[in-house]
Amino acid sequence: MAAIPSGTMGAPEACTVVIFGASGDLTKRKLVPALHSLAAAGQLPRNFSVVGYARSGLSNEEFRLRMRQAVSEYGSCTAGERSAWEKFAQDLVYVRGGFEEEGYRRLKETLAAIEGKSGSTKNRIFYLATPPGLYAPIMRQIAAAGLARKDQPGTGWTRVVIEKPFGKDLETARELGRQVHEAFDERQVYRIDHYLGKETVQNILVFRFANAVFEPIWNRRYVDHVQITAAESMGVEHRGGYYEKAGVIRDMFQNHLLQLLCLTAMEPPIAFTADAVRDEKVKVLRSVQPISPEEVDQVAVRGQYGHEKLGDNEVKAYREEDGVAPDSTRETYAAVKLLIENWRWEGVPFYLRSGKRLPKKITEIAIHFKQPPLLLFKACPIEKVSPNVLLLRIQPDEGISLTFEVKPPGSEICVNSLSLDFNYRGAFGAAPPEAYETLLLDCMRGDSTLFTRHDWVELAWFLMDPILRCWESKLPEDFPNYAAGSSGPRQADALIESDRRRWRQS
Ligand code: BG6
Repeated sequence: MAAIPSGTMGAPEACTVVIFGASGDLTKRKLVPALHSLAAAGQLPRNFSVVGYARSGLSNEEFRLRMRQAVSEYGSCTAGERSAWEKFAQDLVYVRGGFEEEGYRRLKETLAAIEGKSGSTKNRIFYLATPPGLYAPIMRQIAAAGLARKDQPGTGWTRVVIEKPFGKDLETARELGRQVHEAFDERQVYRIDHYLGKETVQNILVFRFANAVFEPIWNRRYVDHVQITAAESMGVEHRGGYYEKAGVIRDMFQNHLLQLLCLTAMEPPIAFTADAVRDEKVKVLRSVQPISPEEVDQVAVRGQYGHEKLGDNEVKAYREEDGVAPDSTRETYAAVKLLIENWRWEGVPFYLRSGKRLPKKITEIAIHFKQPPLLLFKACPIEKVSPNVLLLRIQPDEGISLTFEVKPPGSEICVNSLSLDFNYRGAFGAAPPEAYETLLLDCMRGDSTLFTRHDWVELAWFLMDPILRCWESKLPEDFPNYAAGSSGPRQADALIESDRRRWRQS
């Protein structure tokens, strides 16, 4: 059962997915393993093909072999999935090409041959699994080859999928938007944020709007504040070059964290349809109080991890990672306080934090409720009476828990915190599906609820730009300011403690 019901559920129509950047990392780690799992689960249409497009001179057989290895390495590969490979591989085709017309002509012929053989309509998804700098030239070539057709009833549809980053600030995001819209209508564009494909992220809306007990208290009267955390224990791994240009605000805040904020704070949509849900998310971003350049230092903190010895392991500092400048001022950690100025959330701070090389990988949303009056519990030390916290655990231990106060046995009236716990794997007996499986299937079905709309992208940059501009103009003098494996820079504690609150210790 999908968490967000869409109007277009069911098996997708026959279609072909063209992957640009077919020899790249995303194709082998995520896209082909996800498509193969869908095939093994019988969720793909009968007439379905994948066309890989890249520069390398590979035959169909060589491409299939590479993808076979990718599926064994990165797919889940149960016995059922292994036996599905042969059928899946028959419909994997490779086209060699770069930006020249010739390559796109070959692609067009290949698509015509596939569709001619199966007699299916021209339903095509162009997946741009390439560096973002190539989106515009590829889309221009798709259009020039006559492949960016507007949807016409009965003659097939065309969709294009792009991955973040959508620009590096508001101005470049606008420019990218213009380039995309030169070739495609907004309705044809599917912008992926893989967080939205996570089952537990989708569950936020079901949890909020399918239960009568939480929604009435989901507001400024009962909620003291909200903490959204996306902590990672890994460093930047092999992506130092990319990260030097990005940093955590562009990499995590402008997309994943703001999406989590919107799902937590949005009003109920009038229906679970793509535009109704996305309209509500846009309204949240429009209500976030913009941060002025003078305020940045009061509401945002940055950090960069330094070298540390963790057990027997020496952990490199960010500045020692491959592709990173030895005096880099790029932030690998940030904490930001945002206020939403609307009827529901007036005065309730949302604290967002994310960073690399923190103690554990944890993504969670913690709703901290207000403290009740404590006059009945004078015998109990005040620090023992904790306000209720509702915790939405996105990963890795997917689930939901609610802490509440109980009386421990004994003659004194005192309180202790306990928690009611729902665990996803325990309850459903399996790990949630991979985000890319959900998103690819939704794209084939034409359901863009879980994809990011262009107006949302622009608003998200509008909110993050002042922080980026301020930090890029005022270089940090104390980097590295947190040790690898620690819980971040002490300035982040000061940010929340100055409001007489504390970060949750996960
Ligand atoms: C990506 C970022 O979008 O999300 C990475 O580019 C980050 O830097 C990753 O590690 C986190 O995703 P997840 O699903 O592992 O939480």
